[in-house]
Amino acid sequence: MTYIRSEIIGHGHYTPKKVLTNDDMAKIVDTNDEWITTRTGIKARCVVETEVNSDLSYKAAMMAIKNANISAEDIDLVVLATVTPDYTTPATAIKVANMLGVKSGTPAFDLSAACSGFVYALTMADNMVRLGQIKTALVIGAETLSKITDWTDRNTCVLFGDGAGAVVIRACEGKGDATDTGILASKIYSDGAHFDNLRTTGGVSVSQNAGFVMMDGKEVFKYAIGALAQGAEEAMKIAGITAEDIDFLLPHQANIRIIEGVGKKLELPEEKVIVNIAGHGNTSAASIPLALSEKMEDSTIKKGDLVVLTSMGAGFTWGGIVVRI
Ligand code: UT7
Repeated sequence: MTYIRSEIIGHGHYTPKKVLTNDDMAKIVDTNDEWITTRTGIKARCVVETEVNSDLSYKAAMMAIKNANISAEDIDLVVLATVTPDYTTPATAIKVANMLGVKSGTPAFDLSAACSGFVYALTMADNMVRLGQIKTALVIGAETLSKITDWTDRNTCVLFGDGAGAVVIRACEGKGDATDTGILASKIYSDGAHFDNLRTTGGVSVSQNAGFVMMDGKEVFKYAIGALAQGAEEAMKIAGITAEDIDFLLPHQANIRIIEGVGKKLELPEEKVIVNIAGHGNTSAASIPLALSEKMEDSTIKKGDLVVLTSMGAGFTWGGIVVRI
């Protein structure tokens, strides 16, 4: 019996040209390179000037479509994970689909699950592929977090960056075991008991504006390593593999201490844990696809590699995906 899987056939990423180093941040708030580097692993972050979310999404998506060697007309679904859309409505995914030349009638929507947005979006798209509803999907994670950053709050403003990453997935046939190519398993979670630990100060329905990010960093930190490990472990359990089998763990890039903590918890050697936080900071829903695309582009991650994506963010939301590239 054949088994339908979703194979990643294209990757893309894009970051705005303007870079703010830690020294630049020290001119904005009372901070310094030493504090930011040792507490977070971040050295610099990209921020938009005139570009908006759809511009970043479009550029990452174009690269993914080219890399997949398909045309935009082949796409049956566009999902854009973000908490910083161009407009409240319509969905930025619909604007991006139109910019790309995706055919009229194609479903497109935004998905809001904060830093877990891409893992949620890829899970949804994979489920539609496996149900036979679609063949090819474009899944994007893109953020302009600089627009909801409180640039007077040193506790948060040094952490975030802007950027986008994208993948094209397409239906392929497998045997139904862990030797298959494509997404082998996924597991997503949320727990609203932590709603207030990381959220914006306002929102459309509450304050008629988007608000700014506020975070109880210590509370989020306490939860993050366990949640990231759980997302990875449960997805691996469903896939029928263990941490020993994987080539790479790609955790959400929020803090180097959290990333290293998850690697240790899963007993993975350092070289198996993907890290790109130094140049980007935390780009929320863009974090995983941006790192995935960068590492596929420079051939760190190669065809046949078994990769575990794991994320955790506001909500709290968290989850993991096992994928053979
Ligand atoms: O994307 C979703 C997931 N998000 C996360 O995973 C973030 C999780 N949290 C964290 O990564 C960390 O909690 C932070 C990086 C946000 C903070 O690190 P921390 O080691 O928990 O620092 P802290 O909040 O305990 O602050 C220690 C000190 C404080 O000073 P006092 O009160 O001890 O005098 C802060 O005021 O560091 C101070 N501080 C800073 N100093 C220089 C806070 N921010 C800064 C700063 N520069 N930017």
